[in-house]
Amino acid sequence: SQAPVKVAVTGGAGHIAYSLLFRIIAGQLLGKETPVELRLLEITPAMKALEGVAMEIDDCASPLVSNIVMSDDPNVAFDGANICLLVGARPRGKGMNRSDLLAANGAIFAPQGKAINDHAADDVRVLVTGNPANTNTLIARTHAPDVPGSRFTSLMRLDHNRTIAQLSKKTGVPVGEIKKVAVWGNHSDTQYPDITNATIGGKPATEAVNDAEWLENTFIPTVAKRGGAIIEARGASSATSAANATAQHMHDLMLGSPEGDWVTMGVTSDGSYGVPEGLTFGMPCTTKNGEFEIVQGLEFSDYGKAKLAATIEELEAERAAVHELGLV
Ligand code: NAI
Repeated sequence: SQAPVKVAVTGGAGHIAYSLLFRIIAGQLLGKETPVELRLLEITPAMKALEGVAMEIDDCASPLVSNIVMSDDPNVAFDGANICLLVGARPRGKGMNRSDLLAANGAIFAPQGKAINDHAADDVRVLVTGNPANTNTLIARTHAPDVPGSRFTSLMRLDHNRTIAQLSKKTGVPVGEIKKVAVWGNHSDTQYPDITNATIGGKPATEAVNDAEWLENTFIPTVAKRGGAIIEARGASSATSAANATAQHMHDLMLGSPEGDWVTMGVTSDGSYGVPEGLTFGMPCTTKNGEFEIVQGLEFSDYGKAKLAATIEELEAERAAVHELGLV
């Protein structure tokens, strides 16, 4: 039988983890053959709640769980970890401005990056879900100089899935027949959900939709502001859909993106499409065996170029702000 894969999850007592952990032990991360050792990180006051979550994991009697380790010390939680899912983060509190938020999260993601650098397995893969996810990824990666930068990715898959869902609703075509959507840039309102290269039921998506007004004025804002709409409706931020996307992102990175399609991931820019090097940026990628390739040669409309420029500008401002704070 296979050796267990060590999967670290931070924010283990939080809402997303409460869906994510049970997906992992049901085989939705690495398949139904690969056992996992869960290494759960929480802050000290949440350790009791984390123990309750671990009791429920026990009570699922999943044959995939080889062991559960719980800690409030990232040096312990990430020790030997092959996969790190960084979910726990500091939400924006009352009266906090953007700089306060970046500083509070820097205080989490800088030491976690260092702990990954010093203690994780040589083959570690890291996915940041906790917001502001793109810039938290940049911070963690900066503090892990011995780990190749390509090992750090951020969650844009929820935005990718939201794009597909809206297109399916508009056209009536099942989600499984919608391919090659992309979401460029930041996991924020400035993101650019792009269907220029997509197909819907085998037809070019722009033809299948045939409603340019809807694309610009309804579709893009609906996808980009979906997180806020869910908070408004549910009184809490999206949790299960975020957990689902987190598991899918890492599943596809490790086991491969679907043939004839691609996935959106926040990756370290290599300068492709004029995105400044080093920004963590949503891009369409194909994936296999823990490696990704940014899809090359895609065309942008003038509208698309302006959208791309706006989300680049926002991420550069975030990078400048965390640089100012001494975090990168
Ligand atoms: P939550 O507040 O329910 O859970 C977060 C957990 O993280 C809490 O239990 C907290 O104690 C823990 N935590 C805080 N600091 C920690 C640290 N230093 N080490 C370990 N654990 C720590 O939040 P929820 O709903 O689970 O969301 C988690 C994050 O995911 C938030 O930042 C949220 O904004 C983000 N998110 C990202 C999405 C994306 O698409 N990228 C989508 C939805 C949410």
